[in-house]
Amino acid sequence: MTTLAFGRPHRHFRTTDSTNARAKRLAEDGAPGGLVVTADEQSAGRGRQGRTWFAPPGSALLYSALLRPLGQRPLLPLAVPIAVCEACEAVAPVRCAVKWPNDVWVDGRKLAGVLIEGRPEEDWAVIGVGLNVAVPADAFPPELRDAATSLGSGEPPSIADALEALNGALGRWLRADGGDVLAAFRSRDGLRGREIAWDGGGGTAAGIDDAGHLLVETESGTRALGAGEVHLTVGPGAGGAG
Ligand code: BTN
Repeated sequence: MTTLAFGRPHRHFRTTDSTNARAKRLAEDGAPGGLVVTADEQSAGRGRQGRTWFAPPGSALLYSALLRPLGQRPLLPLAVPIAVCEACEAVAPVRCAVKWPNDVWVDGRKLAGVLIEGRPEEDWAVIGVGLNVAVPADAFPPELRDAATSLGSGEPPSIADALEALNGALGRWLRADGGDVLAAFRSRDGLRGREIAWDGGGGTAAGIDDAGHLLVETESGTRALGAGEVHLTVGPGAGGAG
């Protein structure tokens, strides 16, 4: 039976290369579904599309959960950021939006990122979340200062509270049916109405289809983009939830 309770077992590291890499190694060694790996600090934090992920030590929730068995979960990339939004809203006075496919935004700035690394042939996936909990604005690298945000720097919630909220929300959203995931995503769609560009095109974001593809209105008609295919640049625009 699929384990959809996250946080048992829980392995916490003061420092590790990457919680995703750790969780993958533990999965290869037979760790059970539900395992969560966290760390105060990562020396080689990984982001999407080959980027690195940096967070000052002790100021972010650096989280990787093992989903095993994986089963059929075509909307997993959309369900995870919804869970992150709910967890954030449970511990801090914020309203979160999702930038397709799975960045979490507050007021148009990135609060959290998601990196899902699947091993479908072995029936598991690692769900990685980097959530800025108590990162002071001046601790972000200069090039990220306008684009990144944190749950708080004055009186932020504790990382432990954020962890507990995320364990619960992830368990709920991975059990949710597809219609609920699509509806929740649409209600938090931060890209809708905004001008976007990718290597090879551009247009106005127009929501998602039922398979979770991003719909874009372009001069030559509506296109549906898959998450793995494109690196998006977002321009000014109407914005969405948030
Ligand atoms: C992104 O937005 O590019 C995704 C960032 C995901 C970062 C988290 S931090 C915890 C986990 N371990 C990693 O190495 N990456 C994810």
